[in-house]
Amino acid sequence: MTSLPENERILIFDFGSQYGQLIARRVRELNVFCQIVRYDLSAERVRELHPSGIIFSGGPSSVYEAGAPRCDPGLFDLDIPVLGICYGMQLACQILGSKVTPAPSREFGRAQCRIQERDGLFGGVPEETTVWMSHGDQVQGVNSDFVPLAATETCPVAAVRHRSRPVFGLQFHPEVSHTPCGNRILRNFLYDVCGCQGTWKLQSFIEQTVAELRQRIGKHRVICGLSGGVDSSVAAALLIRAVGTQVACIFVDNGLLRAGESEAVRKTFRGNFQADLHVVDARQRFLDALAGISDPQEKRRIIGHVFIDVFKDEALRISNVRFLAQGTLYPDVIESGAAIDGPAATIKTHHNVGGLPKELGFELIEPLKDLFKDEVRRLGLELGLPEQTVWRHPFPGPGLAVRLLGPVTAERLEVLRKADAILLEELKQSGWYRQTAQAFAVLLPVQSVGVMGDGRTYENVIALRAVQTDDFMTADWSHLPYELLAKISTRIINKVAGVNRVVYDISSKPPATIEWE
Ligand code: XMP
Repeated sequence: MTSLPENERILIFDFGSQYGQLIARRVRELNVFCQIVRYDLSAERVRELHPSGIIFSGGPSSVYEAGAPRCDPGLFDLDIPVLGICYGMQLACQILGSKVTPAPSREFGRAQCRIQERDGLFGGVPEETTVWMSHGDQVQGVNSDFVPLAATETCPVAAVRHRSRPVFGLQFHPEVSHTPCGNRILRNFLYDVCGCQGTWKLQSFIEQTVAELRQRIGKHRVICGLSGGVDSSVAAALLIRAVGTQVACIFVDNGLLRAGESEAVRKTFRGNFQADLHVVDARQRFLDALAGISDPQEKRRIIGHVFIDVFKDEALRISNVRFLAQGTLYPDVIESGAAIDGPAATIKTHHNVGGLPKELGFELIEPLKDLFKDEVRRLGLELGLPEQTVWRHPFPGPGLAVRLLGPVTAERLEVLRKADAILLEELKQSGWYRQTAQAFAVLLPVQSVGVMGDGRTYENVIALRAVQTDDFMTADWSHLPYELLAKISTRIINKVAGVNRVVYDISSKPPATIEWE
């Protein structure tokens, strides 16, 4: 399915930059649709895709090294505007005849930039402005085909334009927040140079996608797995908007969920959306399968298998099903290397329901596969999902089983669930929930000595984990206020029978991970 506005699309060529997705998000925030593509996409294919403009990302290589990633030089003959960023600028300049060499001094971090031509790309940008640099090479003076547009103290050519072609280069990074005028520059490129109108709006995405879904699904039925998380909830809401009760939502209650999750899903989907919701109570089945298992990977394996079995049983009970919908997002598509024309795969570690479509023989529908997480959240609100679903922290597929170190039993799950509920309640009340990316309680497999009243106790330890992160690949522990930690600890120890000690996890990732198992 392609819910893409035909005439407004930017292609971002990925030369291995850590900022590729950030560039894409910035472009989308300016209401222009964009896709990240392989650096060597042929000029022929680009012509077919008919983009309004091209952005070359940065990258870690040096253009003069053997094996450095290069684009098809034919791109420059298509008369499509090109903006090269960092490595992208060096490559464009080199291909068009300028010289790139190691810079006399490598430049990392903030730099003061003097703009020499303050219209076009730099229209509305102050004469002196701060930019974010991160490079070891630079364009050493350009040939007469190029006009320098800006300079810093150590970088004489910090920005350029070609005299006769719509080709521009920026040595600095306009996409990062440390370049305050970056957004303006990108806007100028998209709107003034490429002539975009900014038609990428969520409302038009909804209308277009709904129409396409109706056409594709026809009179068939679609199954949509609900986990209670943002992505699957938004995918389901979008499908329900398109084909109503032709969508059967399956929610597997595996008994490893947080307090109140099952009820929340029922309330939203049965109550608000009047969806055809199938809640499968598989709590005992999961507990039985997990009995006596303490090894984390073994827990994950068992949960994955039981999930597929339970889901399959329920799915096969529903007749006339042709499609299975999943809430796959654009970063998943890029990172798994599955995007047509997209860059090669990077490492993807966690999969929730891998294998389902193949097992079931259904056709896959992924209505969110062009969207980033923040767009999915906005879409969710637009479709009427409650704030608490839209802003919910990620929750691992194996659920509380991997936050309960040691064996999984109904009693231990109950202790963890209660402690976790108190943590979340306090975070929400204090406004800290939205300031942390993920927060949860962990039940440790040790007991410690305590004293309550006159008696000695020997009971459980709860660890609290709260982290800040953008991408979940690296994370810092959240600096929650002491008063808040004190309140959470007191409440847990007073209210949760079986817990006499609470500790706070102050490890960053790496070397620790976010989860404990
Ligand atoms: P770690 O613990 O590796 O977690 O730092 C990074 C992110 O992935 C989530 N996570 C999982 N998600 N199945 C999932 O669906 C899993 O087995 C799993 N393990 C970790 C974790 O919650 C965090 O958001």
